[in-house]
Amino acid sequence: MAILEIKTAGDPVLKQRCTEVEKIDKRIKRLLDDMAETMYASEGVGIAAPQVGVPIRAVVVDVDKKRYDLINPVITYREGSVVDSEGCLSCPNLYGDVERAEKIRVKYTTRFHKEKEIEAEGLLARCIQHELDHLEGHLFIEIAQNLTRGKIKRE
Ligand code: NI
Repeated sequence: MAILEIKTAGDPVLKQRCTEVEKIDKRIKRLLDDMAETMYASEGVGIAAPQVGVPIRAVVVDVDKKRYDLINPVITYREGSVVDSEGCLSCPNLYGDVERAEKIRVKYTTRFHKEKEIEAEGLLARCIQHELDHLEGHLFIEIAQNLTRGKIKRE
């Protein structure tokens, strides 16, 4: 595994709509592992492929020591709304309040080619919504309120 360079706000790769993963091969699995290692090294809880310069629909999140590799994820259900502080590995030291659905269901393909749908709430739901925005070319700073510099929470 390898720690990859994290692209930061202003890089055009973070502004494009990412393409579907067509084939889950060795290259994709290695990318997911490298993304995870890069995320852990930065103490993040989520990372999207465009953040390491690859504009495809792949995300890794790890909340409460459970890692999810989400390939071609789609949110199929949203419920409620909650505002909380967020940060982003691509926007170092910037934090702000973002309104997100409180509870979601997300459908995705696993690295073992299985179709899966999970329910998420709390930090996991927030993190997945944040990462899926990356796949559409959006950063949390576009929608955050009360943006500040400092160290509160990393995502
Ligand atoms: Ni982010």
